[in-house]
Amino acid sequence: SLNNYLFKYKGYVFAKGETTGEYIDSLQHFEIRDSDIFLVTYPKSGTIWTQNIINLICEDATDQTKFPNNLEKMPWLEYREGRPDYSLRPSPRLFATHLTPTLMPPGLRDKRGKIVYVLRNPKDNAVSYYHFSLVWAKLETPKSFEDFLQQYLAGNVGGSSWFDHVREWYSKRDQYSILFLSYEDMVMDLRTAVEKICKFLEKNLDDAAIAHIVEKATFRNMKKDPRANYEFIPGDLLLKPQFMRKGTVGDWKNTFTVAQNEMFDQIFEERMKNVPLHFIWD
Ligand code: PPS
Repeated sequence: SLNNYLFKYKGYVFAKGETTGEYIDSLQHFEIRDSDIFLVTYPKSGTIWTQNIINLICEDATDQTKFPNNLEKMPWLEYREGRPDYSLRPSPRLFATHLTPTLMPPGLRDKRGKIVYVLRNPKDNAVSYYHFSLVWAKLETPKSFEDFLQQYLAGNVGGSSWFDHVREWYSKRDQYSILFLSYEDMVMDLRTAVEKICKFLEKNLDDAAIAHIVEKATFRNMKKDPRANYEFIPGDLLLKPQFMRKGTVGDWKNTFTVAQNEMFDQIFEERMKNVPLHFIWD
């Protein structure tokens, strides 16, 4: 069952205080523009990384002064608090979200707007989420990784089930103008990932511009970039500044026991059969 930090609305698990059912319902009337760009992820899949990349791709000189950081420039769609009236924003509008298709503005289904969907292998995803739960004040602190893993597998975490999220977006992909990218592909070849995003967003950047974005989006450089590293998040929310934690593929091997891994493989196999997505585990 859900811990006290979470609530469920229309089958989806949210962290308390971030949003309300009423606000989520209002998204059904959210007017989509053709120029809108949505970054969609299950939590801890490379959101702030891709957010930085898309922001850099869409950057123009005026943005720097208008928006102090990536979060302001690409706000989270579902978090209500303190957000301006998006209908007043100039195009192209950028949004990040962890929502599932049914909770999203329906206008996107007419292939208006573009969606970049980033997914990450769920073992590393679970480990990243576990560490994040240890430092994020609005989440229950897990007693152990084993405890967290059980809740993660049951979908009793913010964002609900990784399996449902990936399956649902993947199975509905034909309704959207959507690009699927994996965190692992980005780690292994960031330049190609940046080029794919540029092509999808119909942004014609020259070699030097792409090289500049790749350089700014490396883990090392993002970690010290105050626009991108999320250290602007108030200290009462983040017990330790750790949005940029490790940034690698295969860290799950340092955390999973052999038994946990066997159990995970079995569940993965059952839940992901018929989903022809390819995952890189290390
Ligand atoms: S959140 O809270 O849902 O927005 O978290 P999210 O940004 O999706 O995921 C956090 C993980 O992404 C890693 N990260 C990066 N990896 C590689 N390169 C770059 N530039 C980068 N930026 C963020 C971050 O370190 C988290 O993964 P872990 O495994 O915990 O390090």
